[in-house]
Amino acid sequence: MCGIIGYVGFRDSKEVLLNGLEKIQYRGYDSMGLLIVTKQGFKRVRSVGDIRQLRKKVADAGGNSGSWGLGHSRWATHGPPVEANAHPHKAEHIYIVHNGIIENAEELKAWLKGPFLSETDSEVVAHCILDSYKKNSSLKEAVFDTISKIKGEYAIAVMSEKDPNELIAFKKGPSLVIGLGEKEIFLSSDAQVFLPYTNRVIFLKDGEMAHIQNRETLYFYSDKKQKIDKPITLLDSYFTETEKKGYPYYMLKEIYEQPDCIANLIETHVNKKACKVEVGINNEKDFLDQIVQKGRCNIVACGSSYYAALYGKYAIEKGSRISIGVDMASEFRYRSPVLSSRTPLLLISQSGETADTLAVMRMAQELSLPVLSLCNVAHSSLDRGASAQLYMSAGMEKGVASTKAFTSTLFILFLLSIVLGRKKGSLSLSEEQKIIPSLLLFPDQMKEVLSREKECVAAAHLLRALKSFIYLGRDIYYPLALEGALKMKELTYIHAAAYPAGEMKHGPLALVDADTAIVGLAPKSHVSKKTFSNLEEARSRGGKMIVVGTRGDKESVSLSDCFLSIPSCNTYLSSILCVLPLQLIAYHTACSLGHNVDQPRNLAKSVTVE
Ligand code: G6P
Repeated sequence: MCGIIGYVGFRDSKEVLLNGLEKIQYRGYDSMGLLIVTKQGFKRVRSVGDIRQLRKKVADAGGNSGSWGLGHSRWATHGPPVEANAHPHKAEHIYIVHNGIIENAEELKAWLKGPFLSETDSEVVAHCILDSYKKNSSLKEAVFDTISKIKGEYAIAVMSEKDPNELIAFKKGPSLVIGLGEKEIFLSSDAQVFLPYTNRVIFLKDGEMAHIQNRETLYFYSDKKQKIDKPITLLDSYFTETEKKGYPYYMLKEIYEQPDCIANLIETHVNKKACKVEVGINNEKDFLDQIVQKGRCNIVACGSSYYAALYGKYAIEKGSRISIGVDMASEFRYRSPVLSSRTPLLLISQSGETADTLAVMRMAQELSLPVLSLCNVAHSSLDRGASAQLYMSAGMEKGVASTKAFTSTLFILFLLSIVLGRKKGSLSLSEEQKIIPSLLLFPDQMKEVLSREKECVAAAHLLRALKSFIYLGRDIYYPLALEGALKMKELTYIHAAAYPAGEMKHGPLALVDADTAIVGLAPKSHVSKKTFSNLEEARSRGGKMIVVGTRGDKESVSLSDCFLSIPSCNTYLSSILCVLPLQLIAYHTACSLGHNVDQPRNLAKSVTVE
């Protein structure tokens, strides 16, 4: 979850690294640190908090610049976010930055002498390299020796005061990318960090080492210590710089970008002339035919992407009668799923870097299963590793709580349900043609819902005083209830849970009292009457009722303390519309409580450890 960066060149490395850390802090913002190689020697600055605190500390420290250096943004795994645990870590003359987890850190600690000044597993790596260096007197050999001793998944970058003109990076698990500029070399967990300077990149594979010797010379080694040639990739499509554009938070900007994201997907995947959905898949173009032939597909993801996958199951099974298995990646990888040969796998990940999802990709590769990725970040590890690719195309999402990537994923899954339905023969062309006008209308309906933000501000006023939230929905609305509860808890730090509305009587009803908010998703549909009954039962127990329903629907209005209205539309689209007020009530409740909604406590946008 941490971010690593490195620079060797001619610019002021302090500025390159600080600007890079600002971009990479979505990976962790508990603490940050820099190592600059100056004429006077190595200079390390570390601070608790995000990039603002580090910038201040670097400015206060003054002076000394240099054109080599390392940087790190931390999401704490071992030890709390205090300065002593911030990277770079050092052991005598060895400095390292690390992303990942060293699983045998305790054993190594017992064997190495220390002294250990932090509670991290990372510091052990520095000591291990130091120990090997004493025997080998070569930084490269010391790193090779160390990686034969440490266990786990990790990416590291290493420098030594004894070899100030060397920088070594190694990867086994989390991503690591080299950027090649004119007489300068960049290193990072994410290529976007150096895109202002170069789009020529080299992606390290697991077990590979990069050895930078000066700003124009670097060598690559395989895990067998053999020199290897690595291909250069030219990044043609990547996110351009994003600003808040006047919004107080990226999250709010991203909420308001959703209609444009969907309009963009319509342009790409809907043939308006033929009144037909045409989802373009890269590489294995017949991937959807493979799903139809098998009559089955597994979808695996984490977090909001998992909830989107659940929506996909409901929509695809109903639309095409193809059986869809859905799993959280962290469960799928350990629960020994029954995987029949060649059953296609769809992996969904905004970042394309989530450790558990990548582990499932590797499992699938070992079993030779066809893997379709649905990512937002092109060139991410998942995007590169999958056999076929589809894109959310939502543009850079900076808010830790996913919004526009989530709704884009839902929309694509709905489009997939249409194409699969047609291919399977469960949806006729005339039925499909009836759906197209509602798709084309959808971005405007989203805008209309967003124009009612004031209703959500009012709801937030009521919600901020409550102690817990229960989100309820049935059928296709249930995955959206899960997403609504996730948004609320991650932003407000108040407990929120979601249940299928019909499950309330089996236990959760016992939780309801006058301090409980019941957020019901009940737009007019084949299940709304049933949902109303469940909401009524919760209201009778004193719950405060927030209902997302169809505009003008008297029954939902009469049930609500706060009514959040959406326009009438197709059930699969109305469930997507529901998420907009849910995002806004979570956002406004968190703002009114004084939280930083772009960087919720304890979280990170890209979860690169399991
Ligand atoms: C983190 C983020 C979530 C995201 C999840 C999965 O928890 O905060 O917003 O849904 O990771 O991320 P992915 O990039 O795989 O979709």
